[in-house]
Amino acid sequence: MSTRVIEPVRRLRGTIQPPGDKSISHRAAMLNALADGEAVIHNFLAGEDCLSTLKVLSALGVDNALDTSSDTPVLRITGAGIDGLREATGVLDCGNSGTTMRLMSGILAGQAFFSVLDGDESLRSRPMARIAEPLREMGARIDGRDGGRQAPLAIRGGGLHGIRYKLPMASAQVKSAVLLAGLFAEGETIVEEPAPARDHTERMLAAMGARIDREGPAVRVTPGDRLEALSMRVPNDISAAAFWMVAAAVHPDAEVRITGVGVNPTRTGIIDALRAMGADLSIEEERIVGGEPVADVVVRSSQLEGTVVEGDLVPRLLDEAPVLAVAAAFAQGTTEIRDAEELVVKESNRVATTASQLAALGVRIRERPGGMMIEGGGGIAGGNARSFGDHRLAMALAVAGVTGRGAVTVEGAECVAVSYPEFWEHLESLSG
Ligand code: S3P
Repeated sequence: MSTRVIEPVRRLRGTIQPPGDKSISHRAAMLNALADGEAVIHNFLAGEDCLSTLKVLSALGVDNALDTSSDTPVLRITGAGIDGLREATGVLDCGNSGTTMRLMSGILAGQAFFSVLDGDESLRSRPMARIAEPLREMGARIDGRDGGRQAPLAIRGGGLHGIRYKLPMASAQVKSAVLLAGLFAEGETIVEEPAPARDHTERMLAAMGARIDREGPAVRVTPGDRLEALSMRVPNDISAAAFWMVAAAVHPDAEVRITGVGVNPTRTGIIDALRAMGADLSIEEERIVGGEPVADVVVRSSQLEGTVVEGDLVPRLLDEAPVLAVAAAFAQGTTEIRDAEELVVKESNRVATTASQLAALGVRIRERPGGMMIEGGGGIAGGNARSFGDHRLAMALAVAGVTGRGAVTVEGAECVAVSYPEFWEHLESLSG
């Protein structure tokens, strides 16, 4: 395990190009694996999670090669066709990646062969009944630890029929698993969501010629004969950009431009929350990249105020909750995050880990049912903290380190490579 000491810095200045979006990179690989022809994906995220997806696809017979020799990695992938995946000879290792396990389960539920999916300690502890239940309802045979509630999962797929499924929680992974299984089912599949979760699967399927449409809260997919390969450039990840947005907003001498950030409205909750807190944040040069809206985000030192984050805003910023809690530590007044029960089942229990680790750095923060409450204004005193192997917590703690009054020691700092391999380099470049 590696430990990093992050010292406060005098200024934060510069331009950052965050890595490619994790959610979009996973989907670009998985959907092109099912398409006809070759696709070239520029700015594919070469983080450990997306590498897990590529390894799983290779094991299923999909040719792919990732070139990381330049700043923007390029994935070349040859689609196997909608019926082209082959039974793997071994266990499919999803590493730390919930997206790999849950979305691939949807695809594998549609294949008339046997698959076993496994992952690291964190992934083995995460809930899988949420995908096993609807996929079984469609006709897949799924077993696993605790009756299929936890990985390893064993899937014997094929012979699916479409269902109408009401998601019990706002989850893009569950929504996507059911829609992807729907590509292989007899008849149409409809998924209804309680609040809008990220819609990258729907956008990409539509761009590849799938029959998919939305009616209010419901998304419907009708199986077709083929998907067209889709070459694209992956927008930069707003969930990675969020660390610099918060760092710049709370630091007293900061101006940071974050370029090419994906600003899909299902992902921009962090921008809305920071603006509601009074952040000096502007969105410039909006454009479309890879079928997704993209912009530069410029953030300057700001005096923040506390806010309440709840309801439909929550799924739009859930991954950003740990770093939002850092912003709240600097804001005048109280910030409350509510309706965030899902935070408990992420790479770590992010309510417990964020609260305990920020408390160790001098923040007045308390766990609440379904969220947390932060009494802001005191900033970050500094101290020792640990990541619990959770990449987003490690990066939030690093932001606390550069913006606080004293150094922050982060134990287990290597896990940033799950989603942001260049994180430390970028931190250095902003710190001067
Ligand atoms: C993701 C969906 C979200 C998010 C995760 C990536 C995706 O998870 O937290 O980091 O790519 O679909 P849930 O669907 O479990 O909310």
